[in-house]
Amino acid sequence: MADNTDVIVNPKEDIVDPWTVQSSSDKGVDYEKLIEKFGSMRISDDLIKRMERVTGKPVHHFIRRGIFFSHRELEMILEKYENKQPFYLYTGRGPSSEAMHLGHLIPFICTQWLQETFEVPLVIQMTDDEKYLWKDDIKDPDQTYKLAYENAKDIIACGFDMNKTFIFSDIDYISGCPEFYKNICRIEKHVTFNQVKAIFGFNESSNIGQVSFPAIQAAPSFSSSFPLIFGGHTRVPCLIPCAIDQDPYFRMTRDVAPKLKFLKPALLHSVFFPALQGAKGKMSSSDPTSSIFLTDTQKEIEDKINKYAYSGGGATLEEHRKKGGDLDTDVSYQYLRFFLEDDAKLERLGREYKAGTLATGDLKKELIAVLQKIVGDHQAKREMVTKETVKQYMTPRRLNYTFIL
Ligand code: TYM
Repeated sequence: MADNTDVIVNPKEDIVDPWTVQSSSDKGVDYEKLIEKFGSMRISDDLIKRMERVTGKPVHHFIRRGIFFSHRELEMILEKYENKQPFYLYTGRGPSSEAMHLGHLIPFICTQWLQETFEVPLVIQMTDDEKYLWKDDIKDPDQTYKLAYENAKDIIACGFDMNKTFIFSDIDYISGCPEFYKNICRIEKHVTFNQVKAIFGFNESSNIGQVSFPAIQAAPSFSSSFPLIFGGHTRVPCLIPCAIDQDPYFRMTRDVAPKLKFLKPALLHSVFFPALQGAKGKMSSSDPTSSIFLTDTQKEIEDKINKYAYSGGGATLEEHRKKGGDLDTDVSYQYLRFFLEDDAKLERLGREYKAGTLATGDLKKELIAVLQKIVGDHQAKREMVTKETVKQYMTPRRLNYTFIL
């Protein structure tokens, strides 16, 4: 989800599931509580050190800054890597609109870093079926099928290694790969309506496609769904980077895996990139003022940040100088945490803003420059992605990867 489709006014507690992400506080979702509720693990400093030791390089700033904050069985993946055993990465996108926003980039940026660092294969699922089943304004699967190919261009622009990456539309791959569909059937047979009702809140009004869809998002977690890549091996471990809204799908996947004699996938969870109006706001593809989109012009980026980015600074310059700014609620600072790579500069801007010596307008100026560069570079890379390139990534094929189990 994470278009935050369903909006509940002033919820008493945070709501985080694949369709709704809404916090009850201005500071955003309480991720500590979420870890407890979901039963995942915090990414500890020790685990980060271990990752750096194993790979011989510093972790990505998303991991260092706690943007990727939670995991399931990441240790198992690191152990495999240390022992020169294979694993693969799996992530995805629900193509519901042409314009992806900056938040959608977060898991893909991290996944690209993981692929480059570990040199492993990656599969990317485009759930054109899911978005048709869920979105009332989408009248035909042809629409989401086309969007899957459009969104694939944005994903390819993130820099994935073509020789190690397979992107697939569900509509294509279910009809083209019997092994994938057989795994979907296996999962469907071993998960009851009661179970999905408890995990996803389905009810008598849910359409029957929605009720069975979780099996389709679960199936790429199992290596036998990709016979051309893994030669039918059922036990190549999988690591899934995503924002934490997708976790319910993978809790179900991890429950069903042992019943099918498959391995449970490991997970790496990120927090949410907030809406311009603040962590409590709604980030929606249908509301252009809620976020920065990858299609925004340089001028639109400047205008949106200046007009809509929620300020945690004082109401007047005088008050700001006296009391300083609130870094936890200030959207410009929060966005810089995601996209300004320079640690020393981020630290300085944060310190000065908190002390009130840096004004909101100046912080916004810094952010505008950072985002204009990121979005501008992205657009230039996307321009270079031709139809032919998309076809190459989306053709089922052997990848450049040999492994011994
Ligand atoms: P979708 O298209 O809603 O989102 C794509 C990816 O972006 C993450 N995401 C965000 N991350 C940070 N901040 C945000 N504001 C934000 N909004 C979205 C999502 O968690 C997701 O990782 N059902 C999925 C598609 C899917 C998938 C997967 C995702 C299929 N298989 C495996 C992750 C892993 C969906 O609709 O994602």
